[in-house]
Amino acid sequence: MSLPELPPSLAASPLPKYLEIYRRFRAAIDQGQLRAGERVPSVRALAEELKVARGTVETAYQLLTSEGFFQARGQAGTVIAEWSAQRSISAPLPEVPAAAQRGVSLPLQLGLPALDAFPRKLWARLVTWQVRQADPQSLALTDVCGYAPLREAIADYLALYRGVPCAPAQVFISAGYCASLGLVCDALDMAGQRCWFEDPGYLHARDFLAHEGVELIPVPVDQDGLQVEEGVRRQPQARLAVVTPSHQSPLGVPLSPGRRRELLAWTQAQGSWVIEDDYDSEFRYKGQPLAALKSLDLDDRVIYAGSFSKMLFPGLRLGYLVVPQALVERFERSAGQLHNRNAELLQATAAAFLAQGHFTRHLKKMRQLYTVRRGLLVDALRVHCADLLRVDPQAGGINLLARLLVEVSDQRIAQRALAAGLAIQAISAWSLEADQERGLLMGFTNVASQEQAMAIAQQLREVIQQTMAS
Ligand SMILES: Cc1ncc(COP(=O)(O)O)c(C=O)c1O
Repeated sequence: MSLPELPPSLAASPLPKYLEIYRRFRAAIDQGQLRAGERVPSVRALAEELKVARGTVETAYQLLTSEGFFQARGQAGTVIAEWSAQRSISAPLPEVPAAAQRGVSLPLQLGLPALDAFPRKLWARLVTWQVRQADPQSLALTDVCGYAPLREAIADYLALYRGVPCAPAQVFISAGYCASLGLVCDALDMAGQRCWFEDPGYLHARDFLAHEGVELIPVPVDQDGLQVEEGVRRQPQARLAVVTPSHQSPLGVPLSPGRRRELLAWTQAQGSWVIEDDYDSEFRYKGQPLAALKSLDLDDRVIYAGSFSKMLFPGLRLGYLVVPQALVERFERSAGQLHNRNAELLQATAAAFLAQGHFTRHLKKMRQLYTVRRGLLVDALRVHCADLLRVDPQAGGINLLARLLVEVSDQRIAQRALAAGLAIQAISAWSLEADQERGLLMGFTNVASQEQAMAIAQQLREVIQQTMAS
């Protein structure tokens, strides 16, 4: 089978080539030219036919697979998925920025694990097993604090791998990090209260807390992480500090041992609280994982936040908090008032995934895969963008930070890149105070081949040059 009704040249399209290929497949499915079960051409064959890099076709195929239009069948190749026709009717062909807004994953999208490497068959087996063996009670409403076996599995995992001993009763399951922040805001009555916030810092947390009426005090970050002294100078009486100690988001530096001590001393003296957002510390490529701040927290002032978005997949919408003993009752009340209920089937599946050892095996595999994929993107940027960008791969995480070597706005580059179908973010947009930092953030976990990396780096080069010229 080859792509139907191909116009003579992809170059005639205003869209990036991979999106043009994506749109042609979508249109062919919509018009019934391609039907469920039909095999699609191999990446290599289509790349040859269209005279594009294999990476370009691979990117289009990944997008179609992640949206459920294609189905990979291993040796049997890739076919049009059974449910593609229904999906197509309900999902209109996207314009690029709108696609990004809907959460469709674009190349370089931040915060995504490798979507093609998640063990879906194993997950499906665990889900099926949960459904089969569940008793009728599990069809009723779930516990607002979370599904007990998942709370236990998380407590076991944290004690062993993150040096965070806690009782299952201290673990609260949420629908991801912002839902966890919602619980904290309610339990600590944060509306109108002051909170230190890393500058630059995680965009979504910043917007969420501001929306909850929290007064954010920007505290600058340097190579040792949050400048605690500066926080104390600006607002000693803040009720809360939100930090990413293992891998500062977005700069990637760890909070130094000295700063950790200063921060804990401040919370103890002030009677304030710290949220430790430990979102991606499992992905470390050099040396040992850094100890969690919570593991040093003798006074029990740190609220530890984790998420399964990067470790499993973000569509799962499962995160958790470990709250200090003294706050457990308050959090139980808030969880009840906020109706903090999450699907028991998915919690039970995640619990089995952890308890049966699949979680740690999966993370180990992903660390190896990400080392390779990170290398692919770094090398490609060094080949195509050496005069425009400096990339210093960080010891951990799933994003790359590239510093601009040329005088041009990182936000303008990011806008232009998005219009061209690359989901790059500008760090200046993550700052609360006037842009102190400039640079481009990109996710490397879904860069699956050297050709794809080269195609992306070449495209980024064009985007930067066009932005400089405009
Ligand atoms: C800094 C940071 N914290 C937390 C999270 C987890 O967010 P969620 O659980 O909402 O997916 C992310 C995800 O990208 C992140 O980048």
